[in-house]
Amino acid sequence: MLVLSRSDILSVFSMRDAIEADKKAFVLHSQGKCRVPLRINFDAADEKGQYLFMPAYAGGIDRAGIKIVSVFPGNAAKGRPSVPATVVLLDNETGEVAALIEGTTLTQLRTAAIAGVATELLARPDSSVGALFGTGGQASAQLEAILTVRSLKEVRVFDISPERVEAFIKANEALAGKFGARLSAAPSSDGAVDGADVITAVTTATKPVFDGTKVKAGAHVNGIGAYTPAMQELPPEVIERAGRVFADNGEAVLAEAGDLIKPMKEGRFGAGIIAGELGQLLLGEIEGRRSAEEITVMKTVGFASLDVVTAYEIVEKALAAGVGKTIDL
Ligand SMILES: NC(=O)c1ccc[n+]([C@@H]2O[C@H](COP(=O)([O-])OP(=O)(O)OC[C@H]3O[C@@H](n4cnc5c(N)ncnc54)[C@H](O)[C@@H]3O)[C@@H](O)[C@H]2O)c1
Repeated sequence: MLVLSRSDILSVFSMRDAIEADKKAFVLHSQGKCRVPLRINFDAADEKGQYLFMPAYAGGIDRAGIKIVSVFPGNAAKGRPSVPATVVLLDNETGEVAALIEGTTLTQLRTAAIAGVATELLARPDSSVGALFGTGGQASAQLEAILTVRSLKEVRVFDISPERVEAFIKANEALAGKFGARLSAAPSSDGAVDGADVITAVTTATKPVFDGTKVKAGAHVNGIGAYTPAMQELPPEVIERAGRVFADNGEAVLAEAGDLIKPMKEGRFGAGIIAGELGQLLLGEIEGRRSAEEITVMKTVGFASLDVVTAYEIVEKALAAGVGKTIDL
């Protein structure tokens, strides 16, 4: 069994690799070749936390696996991660565990790569200004994803906590610099969105994080954070102006994302707002951007076959490079 730590993953797997892995997963999903049963949740005793199990099978590559994520808020006080995650990948010849992979890094890469794929497919090629809402655990990888697919000169960062913005910019200015981009602290949500060509929201908000009427014509918007019906970060106005939403997984987005569920309950638009999935876009089954002035919107809630395909690709790279520890149980 191959054991891969965060540094092992990062030494062999780039954001571009993650984007290509997600493309593969999107296509397999849209071709109906993946199986993703509902997540299994158990509560830990004494309200200490929750154990979440997310299995998936990806046909095409014939690999099954499971992501195990725990949500233990008290861990922060113990100096441990509050949402530890591990991905288990199974061998397709023997059914044995082939690899055990640090799951937080894998999740950051595969989630950011969703926005990477969407931005690559949908944003205007001449995009030069980015706006990033949210500076939490996912944000740095999200920044890298949009910089990987578009030559942005500037990315404006906004969070409800200005201290977090300051710390984020300090921690990520070297990363942005590698792509020739500069990070700036947006003085307000409006200040971040004004003139932005690529907007990524990756927050835990329950209300829209920017004003949809202020989004520039021709902009591309990625909605990453809202994964429950109660959460919301995309303004309905920007969805209405776009008129179409591209989803990572149409069914899951309609069932889980407050960004769509809340305005749909208000009768602002119906399920037909989903134009299709990123996999269908990659397969040429649906039309992407239709004009330079059109606003494009992608909404994701994530799904477990992305984890399995990404795990498979990471393991292939690690084996080729001789990276990681091999152990026998
Ligand atoms: N789509 C997917 O596949 C996927 C995968 C992983 C995580 N997520 C979701 O992405 C979200 C972000 O994850 P994280 O780990 O970075 O969370 P986090 O808790 O580490 O950070 C969230 C950040 O959002 C900021 N924020 C909250 N409300 C805001 C607002 N109105 N405007 C601006 N900033 C605001 C917070 O201050 C914080 O800095 C979570 O909801 C998470 O569940 C989605």
